[in-house]
Amino acid sequence: MTVQDRLLLGQTLSFIDDPFDVPVSAAVQYIRDGAVLLRGHLIADVDEAVTLKKAHPNADITDYGDALILPGFIDAHVHYPQTAIIASWGKQLIDWLNTYTFPEEIRFSDHDYATVIANRYLDLVTAHGTTTVVSYCTSHPESVDAFFTAASARNMRVVAGKTCMDRNAPDALMDTAQSAYDDSKRLLEKWHERGRASYAITPRFSPTSTPDQLTALGALWAEHPDCLMQTHISEQKAELDWVAKLFPDARDYLDTYERFGLLGQRGLYGHAIHLTARESDRLREMGAALIHCPTSNTFIGSGLFDMAARKSQGHIVGLATDTGGGSSFSMLRTMAAAYEIGQLNGTALHPAQLLWLASAGNARTLHMGNKIGKLQNGFEADLVVLDLASTPAIAQRSGHADDIWQAVFPTIMMGDDRAVMAVWINGQSISLENPNRV
Ligand code: GUN
Ligand code: ZN
Repeated sequence: MTVQDRLLLGQTLSFIDDPFDVPVSAAVQYIRDGAVLLRGHLIADVDEAVTLKKAHPNADITDYGDALILPGFIDAHVHYPQTAIIASWGKQLIDWLNTYTFPEEIRFSDHDYATVIANRYLDLVTAHGTTTVVSYCTSHPESVDAFFTAASARNMRVVAGKTCMDRNAPDALMDTAQSAYDDSKRLLEKWHERGRASYAITPRFSPTSTPDQLTALGALWAEHPDCLMQTHISEQKAELDWVAKLFPDARDYLDTYERFGLLGQRGLYGHAIHLTARESDRLREMGAALIHCPTSNTFIGSGLFDMAARKSQGHIVGLATDTGGGSSFSMLRTMAAAYEIGQLNGTALHPAQLLWLASAGNARTLHMGNKIGKLQNGFEADLVVLDLASTPAIAQRSGHADDIWQAVFPTIMMGDDRAVMAVWINGQSISLENPNRV
């Protein structure tokens, strides 16, 4: 049976290069009256609508009018188990973990509860135009199975891993060095590269892991070097002081990972706000990724990550919500927060740079830059379609735009899930009618 071609019509915008490295005009591929040809689960072509309509007269057509077709958003650092405690008031990192996060994460020993939240979370992010996430689970293997099962039922490309903690956490969340190794290995062997799933080895952060556990996870990573490894680093000043006390022999925070085999090119280091010069140099030399979580960094009161400076130093940088420390499920809101923090650091990030971070840039941080994050032939068909006039407030600004950047920037700054007109995952259109279904 031949696969029925489908043409999506609209404005199309994708990236052929990094707009932090080259001029925006050289980084972007924008077509005013464009089309994306889908064949099965892949993108088969992107071009002028007239050209593709002529070349594929039998294709089914979905016409999105003036809407903007983009690669689906990628969120490079989230905690799906924190969905139900998002927007919890009044605490900074360590108190926030103890007061809100750990009690909620304890509930994920129950596979049914984990399944409810995994599905709720994936409904919510899909409704916000996100098609790939990199998630922490809890320390319970059930929470990992629940998440990958829910994602695979939706054909979503996701990365996730069991969070490992063997100290400084409630008993009900603690594993041991050995069980963290054994459970992570078993889950990795079960889920890594199964369909669209990838496994990430996941020590939460060095304050909640003993040197023995960090050593065990470093060994596991060495045995599976194609896996990503995710953790947190240098998020908040009180955390830095705590790390220095817990690891008196370490040169700095990064060394608490480096000395145990947990620094590598496939490492994703969340927050990375208060790095020393040595830490910054080592992370850059290794080609490891710093993941900027702007709504979280302001919500929890952590500090201002300097995106423009890190990019110009040559760092690989990703962008993420960090739900539920982050205060939104939306990568639009996250781009807006990155813009606002950029302004406080003295740099106005261009809308192309923000959109690149949420798509091709994040794909690169995940070493998936040849699969997702672009509208390009052979890429997986994960797409978001944005209405650039989704509310009266946005429409009255975008309605007199001189170019695509003026047209899209009000949606980046003021848009939410109402701007998400359609989402395609793996070549299938997703129903957005009831995003809160559980
Ligand atoms: N550091 C260690 N765990 C967490 C977490 O769950 N959220 C955030 N924002 N920082 C962390
Ligand atoms: Zn986090």
